[in-house]
Amino acid sequence: MNIKLVYYTKTGHSRKIAEAVGKELAIEPLDIADNPTLFGADILFIVGGIYNGVSAGEMIQFGEKLRPAMAQRVAIITSSAFRKDTQQQLSMTLKSNYIEVIGECLVRGAFTVISMGHPNKQDYNTAVEFAKNLIQEFEDQADNESAE
Ligand SMILES: Cc1cc2nc3c(=O)[nH]c(=O)nc-3n(C[C@H](O)[C@H](O)[C@H](O)COP(=O)(O)O)c2cc1C
Repeated sequence: MNIKLVYYTKTGHSRKIAEAVGKELAIEPLDIADNPTLFGADILFIVGGIYNGVSAGEMIQFGEKLRPAMAQRVAIITSSAFRKDTQQQLSMTLKSNYIEVIGECLVRGAFTVISMGHPNKQDYNTAVEFAKNLIQEFEDQADNESAE
């Protein structure tokens, strides 16, 4: 299975979250700012934060350029100080490009004194478990389909 992992970060949290997930999955996190080349990913994990209630503009632009030949399905990992907002615009952009969005995981980041100390070990673990569970589900589904 071809699993890829990209992140966009302004203050470093998404990079650290992506590194934790990448370490567990034994894949290298790619920085969206470096314009990574993607092709044929079964699942692409996208990690990013929330800024003034929404995704970074750079994240939306990345989503606009993504095509099913680059990644068939996407799972989003979102960090924010309030752990409330989702990257809804990113999801909608991907769906309009015929890319399946298979889930979004919210983890706590921090903003000035709000949620200081996050993301912490537990937050990294939340993201890692989300990624592992989704991959397991995908593998189980593929096994079931090949057995039919
Ligand atoms: C300019 C700015 C605006 C932010 N706005 C919000 C916000 O509206 N809601 C929220 O929950 N967190 C907000 N945050 C916190 C970030 O979402 C959080 O720290 C996230 O982990 C940042 O990811 P990054 O370090 O990868 O850039 C903001 C952070 C910054 C720097």
